[in-house]
Amino acid sequence: MPADNFFEPISNNGNPPIYRYFNGASWVESKSGKRIAIHSPIDGSVVGELQSVTKEEIDEVIARSVEAQKKWEATPLNERVKIVHLAADWIIHYQDQLIDLLVREVGKPVGECKSEIKRTAEFTDYFADEVQSIRGETLESDNFPGYPKGKTAIVSRVAQGVVLAIAPFNYPVNLAGSKIAPALLMGNSVVFKPPTVGGISGLYLTRIFEKAGVPEGVITCVTGAGSDIGDYLVSHPKINMVAFTGSSDTGMAIAAKAPMKPLMFECGGNNAAIVFPDADMTLTAKEIIRGAFSFAGQRCTAIKYVMGFQSVLDKLLPVVTELMKTMIHMDDPRKEETKMVGPVISVAAAEGIERAINEAVSEGAKIAVGGHRKEAFVEPTILTGVKPTMRIVSTEVFGPVVSFITIDNMDDAAAIVNSQRFGLQACLFTTDEGTGMRYASLLNVGTVQVNSSPQRGPDHFPFLGVKQSGVGVQGGHYALEGMSRLKPIIINEPK
Ligand code: G3H
Repeated sequence: MPADNFFEPISNNGNPPIYRYFNGASWVESKSGKRIAIHSPIDGSVVGELQSVTKEEIDEVIARSVEAQKKWEATPLNERVKIVHLAADWIIHYQDQLIDLLVREVGKPVGECKSEIKRTAEFTDYFADEVQSIRGETLESDNFPGYPKGKTAIVSRVAQGVVLAIAPFNYPVNLAGSKIAPALLMGNSVVFKPPTVGGISGLYLTRIFEKAGVPEGVITCVTGAGSDIGDYLVSHPKINMVAFTGSSDTGMAIAAKAPMKPLMFECGGNNAAIVFPDADMTLTAKEIIRGAFSFAGQRCTAIKYVMGFQSVLDKLLPVVTELMKTMIHMDDPRKEETKMVGPVISVAAAEGIERAINEAVSEGAKIAVGGHRKEAFVEPTILTGVKPTMRIVSTEVFGPVVSFITIDNMDDAAAIVNSQRFGLQACLFTTDEGTGMRYASLLNVGTVQVNSSPQRGPDHFPFLGVKQSGVGVQGGHYALEGMSRLKPIIINEPK
């Protein structure tokens, strides 16, 4: 049973607390003397202050991480597994504290925070079980034309080395855990860079892994603005792999600065919903609402546009607007009755969403529902009469806005999806599974969902994006494989 002072070392316990960073051995303040105040999107109050670490401190952290990794990889797998299972247990043990913090820090409705924390514990356990079935293979030379017997390749999986894990604000615990757990299990050490807003939650998660028994230097957590330390971290020669979730623009900038490093990136999406005339309108409407408005549309898998014939959209829209009345309740995210929509991450972000809505309207779109903003709260908004070339569709507007686009034939929908810079997921709604299968093959995206909104889970399914939506594959054993590399040793029989 962990002691009550479990999280004590991570801050000065002031009001508001000044948080420390974790250099792998201890929780310390940065010599920079610079701190970043984290304001709650709910009311602007200061949740705490984060350290802004220096480049020298990053060097120190990474050196410790390099040193510790070799010993960690040599630790028996069954011991690494026990530590990661214990971390999962402690995520659950401290879930109430984590949920309270998460709600306040990123403004996510309490129900969604509960599921973020529970899901993190569940996949942490899942990874720890799954890693035991990851194994290599042996190959014999004489399978290949012209080769006699006599060479045997023993192909095993080894760690990448030091993995830099960069998590986003929308799932600061979950999308940190989805990188940290598989990386540790495969024998890597982890330098964790949490998001700035969401960084406090990231420190709590780091503490949990530390207390679960991850040895000194194997996990570290450095805080600071991405604009100050991001480039230095990703281009650091001692970082062997980068796992990142965030926008496509940032992802591409990181990739350019980390040449030849293995990458596992989950980036932007502007996921489409395609509605066939035979679709079940109630199911479709429910999925569109969930898809477009969960966590105020701040999910890379959110539905951003819906396509169908005019007659289909005319049937669908009233069902969606009616169901929105019971499925969504925009309010303070701390209240249990708030559903899906609290504030977006900042007033500045809300203003950007409002500008995108106004721009679409000035280009001819109509507001069917919502459209207003107050502080960081943006009403769930449906636009109709939207054209696929409008910025509201072609860029990732990270907020509770969905655009309805009329098409004249079903092939146009696939052409529109395939013309986007993003390719994360798409969903289509039809009561004919054959149509679903055939149409799915036309769509150049990571995953196609038939009769469901886009989503990452269940977390043992592969999760990936094409085009500017990402590189590498997350989820279950795919993530474990991605966090390791093949190491063939070839035994040549003496001639
Ligand atoms: O924002 C990106 C997340 O990976 C989306 O995950 O589909 O479970 O909400 P989700």
